[in-house]
Amino acid sequence: MIEPSIPIDRLADQTAAQFQRRFRRAPRWIVAAPGRVNIIGEHTDYNDGFVLPMAIDRYTLIAADIAPAGSSVQWHCAQRDVTATFDLAAPVQPGEPKWSNYVRGVFAGFQRRGLMPPALDAVMDCTVPFGGGLSSSASLEVAAATLLESAIGRQIAPQEKALLCQTAEHEFAGVPCGIMDQYVSVMGRQDHLLLLDCRTRQAEFVAVVDPEIDVLIVNTNVKHELAGSQYAVRRQECEMAASQLGVTALRDVTYNHLREVARTRLDPRIARRAKHVISEIERTLRAAAEIRAANWPLVGELMYASHHSLRDDYEVSCRELDLLVEMAQQIGQRGGVIGSRMTGGGFGGCTVSLVQKAKITEVADKLSTQYEAIRGIKASLYVSRPMAGAVVLKG
Ligand code: GLA
Repeated sequence: MIEPSIPIDRLADQTAAQFQRRFRRAPRWIVAAPGRVNIIGEHTDYNDGFVLPMAIDRYTLIAADIAPAGSSVQWHCAQRDVTATFDLAAPVQPGEPKWSNYVRGVFAGFQRRGLMPPALDAVMDCTVPFGGGLSSSASLEVAAATLLESAIGRQIAPQEKALLCQTAEHEFAGVPCGIMDQYVSVMGRQDHLLLLDCRTRQAEFVAVVDPEIDVLIVNTNVKHELAGSQYAVRRQECEMAASQLGVTALRDVTYNHLREVARTRLDPRIARRAKHVISEIERTLRAAAEIRAANWPLVGELMYASHHSLRDDYEVSCRELDLLVEMAQQIGQRGGVIGSRMTGGGFGGCTVSLVQKAKITEVADKLSTQYEAIRGIKASLYVSRPMAGAVVLKG
């Protein structure tokens, strides 16, 4: 039931073979960048708050070489069997196919910095499910940026690289995302969660050394229409709340301050959005401390509280996510589930659960069987340790 992960070296060989078949030579570079799952700290990054994600062992891989002639990039997507072509003689612009905008945006970011990437032949492959809330887009942007670093023979500072990728997503894909996904795809560390202060951009690593704990990701395999539009709406609601509360970002609001002001001046909906953000920032910091102390039952409680807040106050959950979290909670500590919650933007995508390793198969089977019986949809299940961020595998 749990989809096995393919070792990164094997993925690299496969992507190299695809490059060879397509371009009739071996690639000069192979790079990979991971997707991510957020353990806690949801919809806090664009409020200057804290997040606690980890990189997972699902990747976007790119095999590439300098194009033999001309100034145009041939970028082949193995999974869709489609090639995007764009020219580097002028500043790169958004275009078709849609997915190529993540790549185009990264090329444009390099060009703007005066770091002129050469024309490339490239093949990309991806084991991060598309549109599943595990940041396939950030992994593509970060993989592309890692490739371009190799191609120009110069590294960009990790923070700047993450920001360049975020800008690509804002400007070329039209998604006003926060900074979490790109940061962890660049900076993830093996066996560690990344506690990121999204205001100061300071990163602390929280070790997850307990060999008895597994991270189980369950993909609802649904993505509701609202996902795209409501993300931007939530951002606006948070900005409105911050301005009505007289602060730069919701990070600066205490619970008491919110209560005082909310009673008289805030629209109840806006007050609930703010309540989620303020409480979630607090939960994230507490969860990081409890993970350090290996106090797992408390970590679990914080995860459920996060889910309920996202469901009731932030209103970004959906029936499928709620169902999976309820089922996990019913299995409970005794059955091996420490905690569970929706992860990512919401309206579909995945739940993340901490599960005792000894019971992982049993838990996975129960969740997928019950989910299918009730919703008539097959879930996809993945297990991952926290992994390292983007890497150059060849070149
Ligand atoms: C998406 C965005 C992130 C973050 C999450 C919600 O994944 O890309 O920046 O805002 O939603 O926590």
